[in-house]
Amino acid sequence: MMKRRLFTTAALAATALASAAPALAQDNTFKIGLILPMTGQQATTGRQIEAAVRLYMAQNGDSVAGKKIQLIVKDDTSLPDTTRRLAQELVVNDKVNVLAGFGITPSALATAPIATQSKTPMVVMAAATSSITQASPYIVRTSFTLPQVSVALADWAPKNGIKTVVTLVSDYGPGIDAEKYFKDRLTFNGGQVTDALRVPLRNPDFAPFLQKVRDNKPDALFVFVPSGAGAAVMKQFLERGLDKAGIRLIATGDVTDDDQLNDMGDGALGVVTSHHYSAAHPSALNKRFVEAFSKANKGLRPNFMAVGGYDGMRVIYEALKTSKGQSGDALLEAMKGQLFESPRGKIFIDAQTRDIVQSVYLRKVEKKDGQLYNVEFDVIKDVKDPGKNK
Ligand code: DHB
Repeated sequence: MMKRRLFTTAALAATALASAAPALAQDNTFKIGLILPMTGQQATTGRQIEAAVRLYMAQNGDSVAGKKIQLIVKDDTSLPDTTRRLAQELVVNDKVNVLAGFGITPSALATAPIATQSKTPMVVMAAATSSITQASPYIVRTSFTLPQVSVALADWAPKNGIKTVVTLVSDYGPGIDAEKYFKDRLTFNGGQVTDALRVPLRNPDFAPFLQKVRDNKPDALFVFVPSGAGAAVMKQFLERGLDKAGIRLIATGDVTDDDQLNDMGDGALGVVTSHHYSAAHPSALNKRFVEAFSKANKGLRPNFMAVGGYDGMRVIYEALKTSKGQSGDALLEAMKGQLFESPRGKIFIDAQTRDIVQSVYLRKVEKKDGQLYNVEFDVIKDVKDPGKNK
């Protein structure tokens, strides 16, 4: 009985999802359902992406291919069950033409089946586990992947006196990706991971893990934690005296997040990271982006989340122009293969994988005009997600 009721509910939901799309063909509005963590542990991700999306709309207008763009922002508090419920409501009730946002991997994965069933393009602007784009053929990603950025650091480290490394990652999708791809590449390069530590995503206490690292005495500690958690890692690293014990901190750029970096203090100076975006990226386009973003948001510095949101909007706007206002599959097709200059540098949406191909930069924290920045010192161009080569 229970089973049958469940089945019926699921079947009804699927029917509602499948019939959601055609109803809007005659409508003159084009709705973007932007689901973000606006409160809770990942709130800075939501704040950055929403600000960037609104900046893009302010700069490019809200009328595209004869359609009036309507943005609907929902706060999922980064709970995947909430993300899924909101996505379902946006598709069935609001009849959105695009789902966008997705602050963390579990939220993106929870929504993927809804995108597939309703044939709604889903633009992942933040979440960065490699496998996300394989969860639905309707997913297009404008953020990055952890394998994409971790490998560059594992190439850099052994050439710079780092042979033994302890890895410390958040214990979920992107952390597992970072740990694996960093380790495989470092080992291939003749280095060694002497311990692999995983900390819980929710309310992590880094202190006991860092004590273990201190006892282990590797040449370096490699860290991935999601946006917003970097400052706590940096503080604990310094408080525990790991730097004084001769252990170097290396990380993905999620740790030296532009949203927090300037408040981390001089202890962050010299930390080397690899990532796809720095607010200090020296291009004319990025200077304009940082200035406009900051001006519109009381001096806030854009981080890599902001650029994922800004470029995601560009992908949606241009796709809508190409599809001449059509949604669904036509819109999705027009998202694939886009190649353009982003504030981060040149980027490409690979038509086969729907994932982003972009430059990965090696950066070092330095002081510029009295402020801390990730200053780029090397670049690996046109990096595909290594997770797609399996
Ligand atoms: C993810 C979240 C982040 O904040 C980040 O910096 C990288 C990845 C994620 O959940 O996929």
